Amino acid sequence: MNEEGIADLDYFVDLQPKKEDFHEAVLRGLSLPQKSISPKFFYDEKGSKIFDKICEAPEYYVTRTEIAILNDIKKEIYSVVEPGSVVVEYGCGSSIKIKALLSALPDPSHYIAIDISKSHLIATAKEIASDYLNISVGAICADFLEPIDWPEKASLKSSKRLAFFPGSTIGNQIPSEAGQFMKYVRHMVGDEGFFLVGVDLKKDIKILDRAYNDAAGFTADFNCNLLHRMKNELDAELNISNFSHNAFYNEVLGRVEMHLVSDIQQMIRIDDVDFSFEKGESIHTENSYKYSTKEFAELAKKSGFGLLKSWSDVENFFCIYLMKAI
Ligand code: TRP
Repeated sequence: MNEEGIADLDYFVDLQPKKEDFHEAVLRGLSLPQKSISPKFFYDEKGSKIFDKICEAPEYYVTRTEIAILNDIKKEIYSVVEPGSVVVEYGCGSSIKIKALLSALPDPSHYIAIDISKSHLIATAKEIASDYLNISVGAICADFLEPIDWPEKASLKSSKRLAFFPGSTIGNQIPSEAGQFMKYVRHMVGDEGFFLVGVDLKKDIKILDRAYNDAAGFTADFNCNLLHRMKNELDAELNISNFSHNAFYNEVLGRVEMHLVSDIQQMIRIDDVDFSFEKGESIHTENSYKYSTKEFAELAKKSGFGLLKSWSDVENFFCIYLMKAI
């Protein structure tokens, strides 16, 4: 423990993930036939705060449902995963979930947090180190969507490894990328490893519509924050009030799509370059894929994981899968 009563980390390794440049990404994205900007750019300080509000919105069932399932299945997880395992979390969002998991496991030995945001990563890892004095804690700053050159310091001592990826963040990747990501995870956990992943299920379109168009407008604010960033950081000439948030379920592709739709014919000007918009033309900002258990199990199988157990809520909105290396 240090002076502030915060336990120290075992190690912090900065792999210096390449931060994609917002300026460059916007210029490139607005030049595409279907204009698009990567969802990575949602999460500046303001965006992260708005995201926390989305998670608490009554219509957004995802966070609430996943936490409830996790709390429900503690005993079962306890009986499957052996004592002394190393837990690796990909992306540390809210610490509620990892705490539920660490409390559920039989005597985990080590926790490794991976995140692209250094400050957020260190804060979460320190919080866990302080709360779980029997677990050694390490942190790796990296972009986990790329293959990670595993640092020597972050020893995966035990062959009993469990990767944790909550929040249906896997649904924000297109399935081929999600499959590639799971191959990296499979490589890290090894032949004895487990993968615990939260996945949003296919469901009634009305429920999805409501979840991604909450009445308080948090999701709309989150989406429009990209326009604010363009104005503030890139000096873009644009009228934010001439764009609207639009989220809808694309049934063919099985995903919720988020767009910023131009309400009128207009321009966005950046660095003397004009990007013209027809009325109704959009910037595509995010996908959130919804899976059936069969679809997800098939995808995971191609990455070397077999479905061991699955748990969902009574309404079948969300599922937590426990996968084992095959
Ligand atoms: N992965 C979650 C989902 O797809 C959370 C999320 C990511 C989200 N981006 C979002 C939720 C944008 C609302 C809007 O649902």
